[in-house]
Amino acid sequence: MRIYITILVSVILASLLSILTRNIIRRINKKIWKFSKIDTLVFYLPFAALFFAVIWFFGRIFIIPLFMTLGAAGIISVFLFDLMMLITLPFSWIIDFTNVRIQSFKSKQNKKKSFNPERRKVIKAAAAALPLFSIGATGTGLASSFQSVCIRRIPLYFDNLPEELDGFKILHLSDMHLSIYFQLSDLETVVENALKEKPDIFLVTGDVSDDLRLLPDALKLINQLNTPHHGYVSLGNHEYYRGIRESIQKFVAGPIPLLINKGEIIKIGNSNLFIGGADDPVTLRSDITPFLKRTVEMTMQSATEDSFNILMSHRPKTLDVVENQNIDLILSGHTHGGQVGFNGRSLFEGMIEKEPYLWGEYKKGETQLYTSSGMGHWFPFRFNCPPEAPLIILKKSKA
Ligand SMILES: [Fe+2]
Repeated sequence: MRIYITILVSVILASLLSILTRNIIRRINKKIWKFSKIDTLVFYLPFAALFFAVIWFFGRIFIIPLFMTLGAAGIISVFLFDLMMLITLPFSWIIDFTNVRIQSFKSKQNKKKSFNPERRKVIKAAAAALPLFSIGATGTGLASSFQSVCIRRIPLYFDNLPEELDGFKILHLSDMHLSIYFQLSDLETVVENALKEKPDIFLVTGDVSDDLRLLPDALKLINQLNTPHHGYVSLGNHEYYRGIRESIQKFVAGPIPLLINKGEIIKIGNSNLFIGGADDPVTLRSDITPFLKRTVEMTMQSATEDSFNILMSHRPKTLDVVENQNIDLILSGHTHGGQVGFNGRSLFEGMIEKEPYLWGEYKKGETQLYTSSGMGHWFPFRFNCPPEAPLIILKKSKA
């Protein structure tokens, strides 16, 4: 029932937003630069939203994944077009308004000098280019969100790494959000590609499935990696959102051990590798630091004095609470890298106080962190921040 209400609300919101955007174009911008094609495009957007809603609805009724994906992505694209237009149109207006004022000032200064129509044309084109650029960027962002998951090799160096773990390969899987935008067939492709890399272990750091009916098959698929040291899974906030009791039941019935507030030691030669799984604080608003401190303390109790310690924690903020816990590496997800990247980092890096570690490698004290940009998403827009399944390679630092 909830999904049908979502479809209905989505189409109503997308239509209202389109009507609002069109009104702004007609009332403000159309007077200045008459670019009727944009006006026409926005006029048809509510009909497009309705069309995609019907596809989504039938996809849901007859369980056709392609229709569900197409319908939901279509409605989201209508939203994005409207939002991008709303954001950029005022800038177009400012450019044109400024130009009119400059021209008027200049003609007052020098009455003999005639109005320059060529210059006006250039400014007008610049004003029109912003919304056109926004449409291009939106389309690219939507398309990028459907690109295949990249298995990136990430070497991380540690002074205290036991010799036996030098070159140990961890396949880090996070934030699949299995549902309409990331499906079992996508996961199957990731598993096939990952097998070529011969990982030693796989670690899954939460937000596995937004459709719990897919969870058992997803776990079986991941288990086909058949890694020598098997793998573990830990919880994310979406396991709580989708129903924590049902999620845990399905994890426990599956082939991959679930770690909540605990860890296990794996013997590799004479070395001890500790893998721990922190719990998720669920909330996105209040201060999660006290919760993270408690869950990390509980989890690390099963580590030994000589073990090399890896912690799975959905929230990268965990890096701020691990002082004196002897954790060598934390693997996290959750942020999706903000889904927009610049120069290999999140575009929003350093801008969000609550999420300081958005994407990539970080270090604090002796603890290193890798935050994955995630394999899936619940909002289909990515720009310069591809979905990924990092292959973390542990390396001994050279003296
Ligand atoms: Fe999350």
